[in-house]
Amino acid sequence: MEKKYVKLQTSIPGPRSKELLEQRNKYVPRGISNNCHSFVKKAQGALVEDVDGNTYIDFAGAIGTLNVGHSHPRVVRALQEQASQFIHTGFNVMMYESYIQLAERLCKLAPGNYEKQAAFFNSGAEAVENAVKIARKYTKRQGIVSFTRGFHGRTLMTMTMTSKVKPYKYGFGPFAPEVYKAPYPYVYRRPEGMSEQQYSAMIIEQFEQFLLAEVAPETIAAVVMEPVQGEGGFIVPDIAFVQRVREICSQHGILFIADEIQTGFARTGKYFAIDHFGVVPDLITISKSMGAGVPISGVIGRADVMDSADVGEIGGTYSGSPLGCRAALTVLDIIESENLNDRAVKIGDRVIEKMKLLAERFESIGDVRGLGAMCAMEIVKGKHDKTPDKVAVNKIVKEANERGLLLLSAGLYSNVIRILMPLTITDDQLEEGLQILEESIEAVLVTDPSVSVGR
Ligand SMILES: Cc1ncc(COP(=O)(O)O)c(C=O)c1O
Repeated sequence: MEKKYVKLQTSIPGPRSKELLEQRNKYVPRGISNNCHSFVKKAQGALVEDVDGNTYIDFAGAIGTLNVGHSHPRVVRALQEQASQFIHTGFNVMMYESYIQLAERLCKLAPGNYEKQAAFFNSGAEAVENAVKIARKYTKRQGIVSFTRGFHGRTLMTMTMTSKVKPYKYGFGPFAPEVYKAPYPYVYRRPEGMSEQQYSAMIIEQFEQFLLAEVAPETIAAVVMEPVQGEGGFIVPDIAFVQRVREICSQHGILFIADEIQTGFARTGKYFAIDHFGVVPDLITISKSMGAGVPISGVIGRADVMDSADVGEIGGTYSGSPLGCRAALTVLDIIESENLNDRAVKIGDRVIEKMKLLAERFESIGDVRGLGAMCAMEIVKGKHDKTPDKVAVNKIVKEANERGLLLLSAGLYSNVIRILMPLTITDDQLEEGLQILEESIEAVLVTDPSVSVGR
């Protein structure tokens, strides 16, 4: 099919990217992974141009960071204006209004009919670290509960809270103490013959058992949950599970922290994905799409909890930088004026429809799932076998890259293809991207005999 947006002038990576790749390999350690081996020259909306003049459609969005798209003109204008006024004073040296405006807007948007406050940081991991510090200070307890397959970052505390040993934890111990991993539902991989309802009841029972077997509830400061697991493979829990965990937290004075770093800012069709579950968290962590590519993160939540840290106990040199605050305020304006919550639902419906059609054609697409525009499909050896097929996923991602589509994998078994395109993508660009996804799958699942056979 003739492509309107994707323009390939060279093979991927092109000659200039290859030169830079050599330099990268010499001067930058392997530990930092690179999904695509090309180097960007410029990017706008859902399109990315590399240094060899090739244009890609972006279904990765810098791992869910670009819900408003690359270099949105309003974000660029706000940043230029901010940079020309002042770049940084340090909020704890001399304050600026944008920090307060952002805190006020987020407090009003976040769920919960109570007084709220917000504090800002730089990265997702830093937001989680600070939410944990605040929770411990408030409850005067130490225990932190996270979930199997969860991802919360790469610092010592957040790495400890994260699942997936390789690559996130292997060889990096000892880990932080007083962190406990609770079960989280994974409907697709429930025991054979069990209904979804029975499975939900089983996981809830396991969670209750966990509080008897692993850690006493009265010693737990907080339960930290992703409303939809991101790195874990775009796993959507059932409402009953999330609500029961919330209920247990309330019974025992445990704080419920929603980690919305990947799910927030319209990705699932709401500002906060936790709103799909009818649950009000005590604290919410945010980052990624909040800053449209400018590093900023935050913790929003109950004012009494947020205020428990004493003067100087939280914060940091660049925390809630003026550029980050201006970017985030502009992101909120864009979500509102461009109806990105509605757009996420429409995009998600179309992507799931396409993925389901593909799943009918390919025996190896075992599951299609998502919430709003957070969509994924799980690649397995066969619909009944369900053995994860990481090799096929790596090949599909590579094929997609070489055909001009930026694509990401995820999941404990690295066998999930996840889609995180900018929500500002046009219908035409979305269709072209889905077409390339289909072609990449066809190239791997049908014609490659070394992996699962399609149809
Ligand atoms: C749910 C969640 N929490 C925390 C993080 C860590 O964010 P960062 O990489 O900015 O530290 C991520 C990053 O993928 C995430 O998805």
